[in-house]
Amino acid sequence: MRTAAVVPAAGRGERLGPGGPKALRLLAGEPLLVHAVRALGSVVDLVVVAAPPAPGAAEEVDALLRPVVGPARLVVVAGGGTRQESVRLALAVLPAEVTGVLVHDAARPLAPAGLARSVLAALDGGADAVIPALPVTDTVKLVDAAERVVQTVDRSVLRAVQTPQGFRRDVLAQAHGAPGADRLEATDDAGLVERLGLPVLVVPGSEEAFKVTRPLDLALAEAVLAARAGRS
Ligand code: C5P
Repeated sequence: MRTAAVVPAAGRGERLGPGGPKALRLLAGEPLLVHAVRALGSVVDLVVVAAPPAPGAAEEVDALLRPVVGPARLVVVAGGGTRQESVRLALAVLPAEVTGVLVHDAARPLAPAGLARSVLAALDGGADAVIPALPVTDTVKLVDAAERVVQTVDRSVLRAVQTPQGFRRDVLAQAHGAPGADRLEATDDAGLVERLGLPVLVVPGSEEAFKVTRPLDLALAEAVLAARAGRS
């Protein structure tokens, strides 16, 4: 299987507070995107990044990542107005020989390479779509528009879903190209595959694959990196 990682990195990251695009915010002195791409680059044949759409951003991202994965294994495109559009724009430039695709948020900079390998192994084993996920630890409640509790959901059947998510290339292309898919605003790619009625396999996620969304997440990421440095 020839593999590529598609990395949507075009988000503004407003919940992280004032600053540039989230993927370019620094974590231990390096942009989040560099951390994410370094792990993926050790696992897949090609990395395609959807950069922020601002003028010059794609060139900046290209220069940043060349030393990380090498120019021959890197493609950078300008991303779009939604995550889904950014993924679609990156999928459009995949070379014909790619048969397996990982989609990974730049906002999950510490997802270990081993997680990407386990997703690819499940694809190799014949799955069409594979997602890493963890059990939900909080109690989850359904509320109405007035913030009144409607129901407490049985958390034993809930999973918090991460990336990298893995797909057979043709399945992912079909999911993104399905009629109306561009109007769906799916928050992950597996959601689009589910709408095709195809099975999505869950594999164990990693606590280190958490998404950097708010300032506290950055502090946690710094702590994880410090702990890794202490172990090595
Ligand atoms: O906003 P959120 O954290 O859910 O974004 C998840 C990922 O999607 C991030 O890596 C972000 O850069 C990316 N994204 C994108 N294009 C957008 C919005 C988000 O590539 N227009």
